[in-house]
Parts: sequence; structure tokens; C-alpha cells
Amino acid sequence: MENGAPGRLNEAEIRRRLKTEALGREMEIHETLDSTNLRAKQLAAGGAPHGLLVAAETQSRGRGRMGRSFFSPDGAGLYLSFLLRPECAPERVAMLTSLAAVATARAMEHAAGAEAQIKWVNDLYLGGKKVCGILCEAGLGTHPGMVDYVVAGIGINVNRMDFPPELQGIATSIGNECGTAPDRNCLAAEIANELEALLPQLETGEFLAESRRRSNVIGREVLVIEGGNQYPARAVDIDDRGCLVVEKGPNREKAHLASGEVSLRWLEEECPKR
Ligand code: BTN
Repeated sequence: MENGAPGRLNEAEIRRRLKTEALGREMEIHETLDSTNLRAKQLAAGGAPHGLLVAAETQSRGRGRMGRSFFSPDGAGLYLSFLLRPECAPERVAMLTSLAAVATARAMEHAAGAEAQIKWVNDLYLGGKKVCGILCEAGLGTHPGMVDYVVAGIGINVNRMDFPPELQGIATSIGNECGTAPDRNCLAAEIANELEALLPQLETGEFLAESRRRSNVIGREVLVIEGGNQYPARAVDIDDRGCLVVEKGPNREKAHLASGEVSLRWLEEECPKR
């Protein structure tokens, strides 16, 4: 499991910074995994508790949304998954990705002084490039429509790093943007602290005000990709259910997009810097 070398992920270093009751109180740290989400789902099926944290120094099959992969070089990023067993209505569970994005942005601000923007619904941006991706995966309960658990997987590019050609100009790291990188153990604990503090707001939706404030799509032209369909639209708001509100067509007809089915591309030449 963890190797104890300075700068590596370390359970004691994370634990001493936790202010949580449940999140991170049970923890697995691995040198390598296929995917922290897959490992957390496996443990969830075996009855692991709410709050379990699984982290790895590197992933051989880091998973992203829409079947994409997540670049996970050894020791350079933070790849972690929380097992959550939220006690709220199933329709509220869909907002967990947005909530985790706000929690991660806050943690990055505390640990690194980096002010991240959120590209609805699961990406965090620094300096106009993607620095973090979030993938929430739900396990269904025995009653129809009920959620047994959600694994919230968070991948952050932390240290200074070079990206493969296909990610150059698109991806960045905290170190690349800020000059110095935060301690990854500190960042992991901050995420646990912020996520646990925000979880009760899943019911009230209060955190959505911060999603809107941090959004780098509201007020922009985007290409909406829904299954095999795609169309240009203007992003105008995030509604009280966490859906992105867009205007499309000559009559600027409004549509409320649910996160599960949709991805967005910029219509401008490059991601806007604000
Ligand atoms: C995306 O960019 O589409 C989401 C990327 C999510 C990556 C994280 S890394 C930790 C966790 N384990 C995974 O396999 N995926 C998530």
C-alpha cells in the first residue's frame, strides 16, 4: 500500500488534518490501482461504510465521464474516491457531482490559493484549462429508483507536469498554473472536510449559488452534445435542480439540461479566461 516516502500519499498525514466525522475516517491508500472508483464500488458492494476514502498514486484505467479515460501519472496528481451513502431523495443525488465540484474548488483555494472555475458539470478549470475532473457513479438499491451508494471520484492534476500531445493546451496542473503545488495529503484532507461540510446542502441546494458564481459557461456560447445529437446554444443559468439552462434556436427556446446525458464543448476558439 502506501510507501512512506516524503511527498507521497500518507494516511497519517491526511488523518491529522481531517475535521470530519465520517469522510476519510476509513481509508485505503494504494501505490497503484486500475481505478479508485472501481475499488470503491467493489468495497461498497461488500458493505463498506459512508465516508470511505480510496486513493492511489497512479491509476492504470482512470475513468472519466462518457467512457473517457483519465490521465493519472504516478505521484503527480491526486486520484481519490469517496463512498457516499446519502440519505436524501434520489433526484437530489444527481446533484452530487455539482456539490463535489464546489467542495473541490474550495479545497483547492484553501490548500493552494488557486481560484478554480467550474465547467458544468464535472470539470474544474485554472487559467482556462482543465485541472480536475469528477466522476460520480451510483449503485442502485434493492427498491426501484433508490440509490444504495454513490462513489464520488475526483482527479486533480497537482504537481508541475508535462501532458501527452492530446492533452496539451487543454489540461493543466495546479503546479503549472501557480508555480508551486500544494501538498497532496493536505489537499485530500481539505476535500474531505469541504465535501462533508457541504453534504447537508444537497437537500437545500444552497451550494448552487457558488456553482453559478464559479461557472465558466454561463453567458457563453457552447456546443451541446446529447447522445448522437449536437447543437449550438447559449448557457444562461444553472437551475435549482443543478440543470444547465440554455437558449437555443432562432427563438432562443429554453432547455434545462440534466448532467447525465450531456457534455459541452466551447464554441469559442479557446476556453475563455476570466
Ligand atoms: C472526467 O474528467 O470526465 C472525470 C475524471 C474523473 C477522474 C477521477 S480520478 C479518481 C477517480 N477514479 C477514477 O477512475 N476516476 C475518478
